[in-house]
Formats: sequence, C-alpha cells, structure tokens
Amino acid sequence: MSKLWPLFCLLWFTVCSTSTPMLTSSQTLDADIQVLRVFKRCIDPNSIPPNSYLSSWDFAMDPCETTGGQFLGILCTFPLDDSPNRITAIDLDGVGYEGFIAAAIGNLTELTFINLRKNNFRGPIPESIANLKKLTRLSLSNNFLTGSIPLGLITLKKLEYLDISFNQFSGTIPASIGGLRGMTSLSMSNNGFTGRLPDLSGLWQLKTLDLSRNQLYGSLPNVPVSLTTLFLSNNILSGHLTPLIKLRHLKVC
Ligand SMILES: *[C@@H]1O[C@H](CO)[C@@H](O)[C@H](O)[C@H]1NC(C)=O
Repeated sequence: MSKLWPLFCLLWFTVCSTSTPMLTSSQTLDADIQVLRVFKRCIDPNSIPPNSYLSSWDFAMDPCETTGGQFLGILCTFPLDDSPNRITAIDLDGVGYEGFIAAAIGNLTELTFINLRKNNFRGPIPESIANLKKLTRLSLSNNFLTGSIPLGLITLKKLEYLDISFNQFSGTIPASIGGLRGMTSLSMSNNGFTGRLPDLSGLWQLKTLDLSRNQLYGSLPNVPVSLTTLFLSNNILSGHLTPLIKLRHLKVC
C-alpha cells in the first residue's frame, strides 16, 4: 500500500488541480466585463503597442483569471462565496494610449484605484466618476485632459490621493475640495486652473499640495498644518505669507 501512495497523490493532484479552475473560471461580473470592453474600445487601437498592458486584454478570456498573463493592469476581488469577481483597480502602463476615458468606468463600483498617467487621454473626466464611492487613489497626470473638475469627484469621501497634474484642465478649484478629510496628497500643477484658492484647512491629513503652474490669484488661504511639501510657484498669488507661519512640518516651499 505504501508504494501506491505517491501514485495516489499524483492522481489526486492531477484531478483536483485540473478540475478546480474549471469550476471557478469565468466568474467576473458580466457588467464589469462589458465596461472593460467599452473602456478599451475608447482607445485608438493604433496607439496600443504589442506587449502593452491593454494588448493583453483578450476578451476570449475571463479578466479576473490570473493565469497566462492576460488582462495586465487590473486587479479583482476574489470573494470566498459564490458572488462574482469585481474589478478593483485599473493600473495602466504609460505607453501613450490615445483616446477618451469611457463614461462607463462609473459602473465599476468596486474600483479603489485608477492610474492612467503618462498617456494621451483627452477630453473630460467623465461625471460618472462620482459613482466610484470606494475610490482612494486617482492618478491621471501627464495626459491631455480638459474641462473642469467634476463636482462629483470632490464628493468621494474615501479619496486619499489625487494627481491630475500636467493636463489642460481649466475652471476654478471647487470650495468643496476642503471637505476631503482623508486626502494626503493633492497635485493639480501644470494646468489652467484659475480663480482664488479655497480654504484648505479642512484637509487636516494633507501632506503634499502642489498647485504650481496655474493661473490662481488672490491671497493665500488657510492651509492645513500637516503639510510637509508645498508648491505654489508660477501663479499670480499676492498678499501675506501669514498662513504659512504655522506650518511646522514644512520641508519644501
Ligand atoms: C452602465 O450602467 C448603466 C445603468 O445601469 C447602463 O445603462 C449601462 O449600459 C452601463 N454601461 C456599460 C458599458 O455597461
């Protein structure tokens, strides 16, 4: 009997390891798969290089099936019960994808992380982004995005990190931005933002604030004392520096 054990183990392993994936495959929520399709369709196929993350998105496969190097740049939930997998992160490579951010992205309601930096996305941030209540990090820097900041984005209470620098955004910075209590890093530099700076003292966890290279004017507002890094250069600011005196942790200015 003892001589048969290795054979038994081998058989058991073969049967189980081949049958298990078949039982669990293709379990990504269908609506999430549809959104990924639309998302990819909004990007010019000629701007998708071979071996890039987006070229690995092959819809003959299940997006959350991890084997085989398919669907690079996304992360999924893996629920222990029978509920379907959901997409939790889109983290693309910066290879110059050209296109628009599909409004359908607002249907990926489990998303916590979006990174599309260093590409050639143009057009506005879709208003539907307001549906992503679990979003903690949004990085859209170094694209050609236009329009103003959707007010709905500024209502996302979980947001900790927002980087929309190096785009072509315009309009004012909404006063409601002061309500994002969990924000630790905010970069909006190198855009066309104008108007006065709103009171930012409510962002009491904010460490990094970069608003340089815009057309902001008026006097300095109250800023949070938690700040360690502050960039305000290349604006049209004036008046007193008094709001900065309390910044004990400041390293760069
Ligand atoms: C997004 O959700 C809306 C409302 O449920 C639906 O009408 C629309 O078809 C969805 N979009 C995609 C691409 O799945």
